[in-house]
Amino acid sequence: MSSAEPRVSEAEAGIALAARGIAAGYSEIPIVSDVDVEVRHGQVVAVVGPNGAGKSTLLKAILGIARLLGGHIELDGKDVTGLPLPRLARLGIGYVPQAEDVFEGLRVRENLDMGGYLVNPRERATRMEKALEVFPQLRSKLNRYVETLSGGERKMTAIARVLMLDPKVLLLDEPTAGLSPELSRVVLEEQVRALGRHGKAVLLVEQKAVAALGIADWAYMMVRGRVVMSARAVDVLGDPKMREIFLGAKGPELEAKV
Ligand SMILES: Nc1ncnc2c1ncn2[C@@H]1O[C@H](COP(=O)(O)OP(=O)(O)OP(=O)(O)O)[C@@H](O)[C@H]1O
Ligand SMILES: [Mg+2]
Repeated sequence: MSSAEPRVSEAEAGIALAARGIAAGYSEIPIVSDVDVEVRHGQVVAVVGPNGAGKSTLLKAILGIARLLGGHIELDGKDVTGLPLPRLARLGIGYVPQAEDVFEGLRVRENLDMGGYLVNPRERATRMEKALEVFPQLRSKLNRYVETLSGGERKMTAIARVLMLDPKVLLLDEPTAGLSPELSRVVLEEQVRALGRHGKAVLLVEQKAVAALGIADWAYMMVRGRVVMSARAVDVLGDPKMREIFLGAKGPELEAKV
């Protein structure tokens, strides 16, 4: 773009979440460096990479749970860097962590109510209806204790709980962790994709790269705290060279270089 052209604002470009130049860790030593990611409304963006690559740390840095050492975060073009988690939740960033994603000992309905604790009871009922529109299968399970759900139903409850705050952006950390390959496919194809269809911007962290790329619009590959490649997911899957980097033997080779 030449400098004479007017700058299109991120909100106009449809960018829901942008994290730019992120450096983050758990002390003053960065675990994640120089990371840029963008997610547009209605898009599913996957971050894939090996164990310990820094995928969860990136999500935690966006949420201010990990220590942000550099960079900034924008929600619909507005700087939200450093805001506390409840404020981010109110502004529209929802987070489904890798584990401990539902309240044990409570029914599905109670989990959803807890998710909507920031909104008044009337609005909460409306939000629950909207969440059930995204996941209609959950309707018949509302009175079940979460311990009695299948892995997929439990994940659906976790995501629906976050939907109670009507987020614009959802950060999902390995929603398929601990699920069978078949159930993983169902969660990604039916649940995560449904979020995109309902206009949500989804930043999806996954180790199951093939399955994640199968449902994602865009993909970032992270190795040792850095994004080493990013491309349209369909292009990655269709190009043997990129497939190799994202999914195959070149991953460890790249890891050795960075
Ligand atoms: N709370 C923490 N304190 C200190 N170091 C941490 C903490 N959490 C993670 N780390 C370290 O940060 C690095 C990146 O971890 P992270 O959890 O971000 O990786 P990941 O890509 O999500 O891996 P996985 O696919 O296994 O979930 C690892 O070396 C890990 O040991
Ligand atoms: Mg992780």
